[in-house]
Amino acid sequence: MSSKTGIEPLTLALPKGRLFDQAQEFFAQRNYRFTFEKRKLIAHDESGLLKIFLVKNADLPTYVSHGIAGMGICGEDVLHEAGQRFFRLMRFDFGRTKMCLAAKKGYGPPDSIRSVSVATKFPRFAMDFFYSKGVPIQLIKLNGSVELAPILGLAPYIVDLVETGSTLKANNLEIIEKISDIEVQLIANPSYYKLNYRRINELISILGGRKTKEAEA
Ligand code: PRP
Repeated sequence: MSSKTGIEPLTLALPKGRLFDQAQEFFAQRNYRFTFEKRKLIAHDESGLLKIFLVKNADLPTYVSHGIAGMGICGEDVLHEAGQRFFRLMRFDFGRTKMCLAAKKGYGPPDSIRSVSVATKFPRFAMDFFYSKGVPIQLIKLNGSVELAPILGLAPYIVDLVETGSTLKANNLEIIEKISDIEVQLIANPSYYKLNYRRINELISILGGRKTKEAEA
């Protein structure tokens, strides 16, 4: 579908889950309104300027790096894990969170000699963090409910996102160390950006976010 101006819409991948609602509201406030019909995964905004794909959070970089979606919105957590090259065009004020090392209350930090087990959905973050400290780790990759690992004895430490802190608190865990702040970014496939930079820059100025320099991951 072409937009009302006859130009092909810009393509944008949005992640399912928590970020989606915030992104949808953010766009609506700036007159880019869209809704997904039941079970549909592709939608257009009312002006026809954007074609939007609803994808699984961790798959978003794959769609953008293949150029299927020219742009995408996702957190630095997912970008860092993906390890692919993107232009980071803009940071959003919503969806901020932090990547943390956590353990059972009172368990304390790992010592720097013995190898420790660490459960996580974010192996790169965990490996980079412990590597920088020179602590050897055994990594246990999980896909969710990571807070269960210390409680059930799978691993004493977890590396995970902390937003409100309520999941840690409810499970009697605490932050040992913040690894990094996580912000949500508008990313683009570099070739797609070069082909469409005028329209993308217009979009960015309408969205009015905090711009970042075009930097490759
Ligand atoms: C994320 C994250 C934590 C939780 C943190 O999990 O992995 O488990 O949210 O949020 P909080 O600090 O506000 O409690 P998510 O909800 O994505 O579910 P998951 O356990 O299936 O990964």
